[in-house]
Order: sequence, then C-alpha cells, then structure tokens
Amino acid sequence: MATLPEPLPQNPLPLLDQWLTDALATSRLPNSNAFALATVGSSEKPSVRMVLCKELSLTPGYLVFYTDYGSPKAEDIAYQPRVAAVFNWTEQRRQARLEGIAVKSPEEESDQYFATRDAESRIGAWASQQSRPLASREALLEEFKRVAERYHADAPESIPRPPDWGGYRLWIEAVELWVSGEARLHDRARWERQLSVAAESAFSASPWQVTRLQP
Ligand SMILES: Cc1cc2nc3c(=O)[nH]c(=O)nc-3n(C[C@H](O)[C@H](O)[C@H](O)COP(=O)(O)O)c2cc1C
Repeated sequence: MATLPEPLPQNPLPLLDQWLTDALATSRLPNSNAFALATVGSSEKPSVRMVLCKELSLTPGYLVFYTDYGSPKAEDIAYQPRVAAVFNWTEQRRQARLEGIAVKSPEEESDQYFATRDAESRIGAWASQQSRPLASREALLEEFKRVAERYHADAPESIPRPPDWGGYRLWIEAVELWVSGEARLHDRARWERQLSVAAESAFSASPWQVTRLQP
C-alpha cells in the first residue's frame, strides 16, 4: 500500500517535485503539470481554473505559471495575492494542495520562457485578450492572421512577448500531500511555513512544520 515516507520529510518540496516528475514520466494523459488555481477578487467570490506549472523551484520554494496579465485571474491576484492550488494525479492516486502568495515573475524570466514558445503560441498571445468578450470565432481567427502578417510567423524569434503576458511565481506557504490508501485510510500530511517580505516580489521563509492528518 502506497503511503507517505516515514518519517515525514522536514521539507515537502522535493517530494512534491518527485510526484510532478513521476506524473509527467508515467501518465498516459496529457498535462500532468496542470493544476487548479483558486483566486478571490474584489467581489469576494472564489474563482478557479486550470493552469500549467512550468517550473517548480525548490529553493526558495515557488512554482511558476504563465498567463495574460489582463485576465480575470490576474485582476484577482492584484486584489488578493493569496491563492490556493491543487494538483490531482488520478493514475498515481496522489493529490497535492498548495496555498501561497502569487507575484509577477521578473520580466527577463517571462521573456526567456516566451522565447521557448512556437510561433503560433506567440501569435496567439498577441491575438487574444484572455476572457474578454469575442464577437465571433471568425473575429479571433482574423486577429490571429493580422498579427501573423505583422510579424514573421516563419521567424518566431521576431515575435516579442506582449507586455501584458507573463509569469507568476506562486510562493508556497502550505502544502498538503495525499496518497490514496486501502479501506479509505488515505495518508495525508500538511506542511506549513511563514513567508515574510524580504525584497520587492521576494520572500524569506521560516522552517517547515509538518502534521500528519486523518484521512
Ligand atoms: C489543462 C489546462 C491547462 C491550462 N493552462 C493554462 C495556463 O497555463 N495559463 C492560462 O492562462 N490558462 C490556461 N488554461 C485556461 C484556463 O483554465 C482559463 O480558461 C483561462 O486562463 C482564463 O481564466 P480566467 O478568466 O479565470 O483568468 C488551461 C486550461 C486547461 C484545461
């Protein structure tokens, strides 16, 4: 029966990283790096959507996702940077829940990531103002064509990152790891630490405290 390691590690992030690597390596389904990101905006109503984890930095401990800085999720984060997230790896019978603070990635990091994207993804980032109303599907395809003509689609490096598109670092303050167990005796543990502002957009972290939880 799969369980969490005994004794529980002091720092959960290497294990989270291992779980992400395992899911990417063994899953027959796409997007094993997808997680649900929950935010709260000025309406105080929670909102949740899937995004892709493009990096997990073990030290100091944040994950990175990319999006449109004008999207509703970005508006929510500007209002309330505290967010929650969950990965569900059905095939591995594992779940990871996270809580933390989202801050925009440094511009150079977003530039570097954008530079790895293919021409169509780059053009798409210019052509779409995420979640804004669209008159028709055709209007979007026309805008895509217009952007493709403005830049050289056969030379993706000529397509710069739109200023309103980039990354967020989700600084991790709490992690719960869950492994499915027989007879519903799932194994769960929650790690917590405190983040304190150390510099603009960066935090220092206290040591982790871990508690095993009933299923
Ligand atoms: C598997 C999956 C991965 C996704 N990854 C991203 C992503 O990395 N970034 C993103 O902006 N939207 C991504 N989306 C789309 C979002 O779920 C969402 O529809 C979009 O970001 C608009 O969200 P918002 O209106 O709450 O800002 C993904 C959707 C799915 C189903």
